[in-house]
Amino acid sequence: MKILGTGSALPKKVVTNDMLSDFLETNDEWISTRTGINTRRIITDERFEDLATEAAGRAIDAAGLCPDDIDYIVCSNVSNLYITPHLSSIIMGNLGIKGPVCPTMDVNAACVGFVQSLDVCDALLATGRAKHVLLVAAEECTRFCDWTDRNCAVLFGDGAGAVVLGKGDNLLASKLTTTPMPDVIVYKNPMEATPFEQRDGIDTHSALVMKGREVFRMAVTTAARDIASVTAEAGLTFDDIDHFLLHQANLRINEAIRENLKQPEEKFPTNVQRFGNTSSASIPLLLDEGVREGRIRRGDTILMSAFGAGFVSGIAILKY
Ligand code: UT7
Repeated sequence: MKILGTGSALPKKVVTNDMLSDFLETNDEWISTRTGINTRRIITDERFEDLATEAAGRAIDAAGLCPDDIDYIVCSNVSNLYITPHLSSIIMGNLGIKGPVCPTMDVNAACVGFVQSLDVCDALLATGRAKHVLLVAAEECTRFCDWTDRNCAVLFGDGAGAVVLGKGDNLLASKLTTTPMPDVIVYKNPMEATPFEQRDGIDTHSALVMKGREVFRMAVTTAARDIASVTAEAGLTFDDIDHFLLHQANLRINEAIRENLKQPEEKFPTNVQRFGNTSSASIPLLLDEGVREGRIRRGDTILMSAFGAGFVSGIAILKY
């Protein structure tokens, strides 16, 4: 596959750390020194699916295409009002693509969803099943936080990033791994109790629960291990990589990974300070910003690396 165009969209509401300390026992100093986050964008009166559609539309425009040229839509999403219908079908309708010729598919691989979906899209393009795939990563993370829990509520933000992919051989190498650790980051959907329940209560909905320190340790060790092996598999060294687009969860995690790779800071763009952790949208948001600002240019080599609930990790190296 190759990237034909990129796009993104963010909610307009900017929430500072100080605004959180109005109702949580927290403060700007704790949040900024432990995570790097200063502000985040939060959906208020926008509709989440409109934000996702806006990012998609921008990527289609940037690719020089129109919605009807898209023949497959893949959507990476963890947090969304709709469990069904899937978000990709909603985006398709919003874009005015009539169907039924364009299949749609949602991928939930937590914060790794965008990198994992690139692999899926590459296969769709390589086998000739599609010519132009729209891949949207859209997340409304602030709706799965318990807003009385300072451990989680301060970390997340909302946003959407998208790419349009066409046939090409620009994906140089990738590696996806899962280590079953179901307790490190958990969010359960509400489920109905049946009349046949034998237990006192059904274990149903809970807001996001996270073992932050364990996630931190896994993120750094997994990235250090896998980035080296994927770079070698692509026949490259770290010096050959122009941009390291790391999942934006915590600046300290990314700094630990960067120190391990011994690469200069300017190769590691960041947005977690402004947008918080936007889950699988964080990497396509970085990509689109880099492209729009002219920092990421055609021919550049990009390494993407993400980690998240599962425990899942994904690395991809590609030519832009
Ligand atoms: O996309 C994947 C999503 N998740 C992650 O990537 C999370 C990875 N982990 C992290 O980023 C960090 O572990 C956190 C930012 C979540 C936490 O930082 P930490 O340095 O590991 O702090 P901690 O959880 O060990 O907490 C230290 C202290 C505790 O107080 P005591 O027990 O020392 O008295 C917490 O209760 O900080 C307290 N604390 C807070 N204080 C002020 C926790 N959250 C807050 C808060 N404001 N928001």
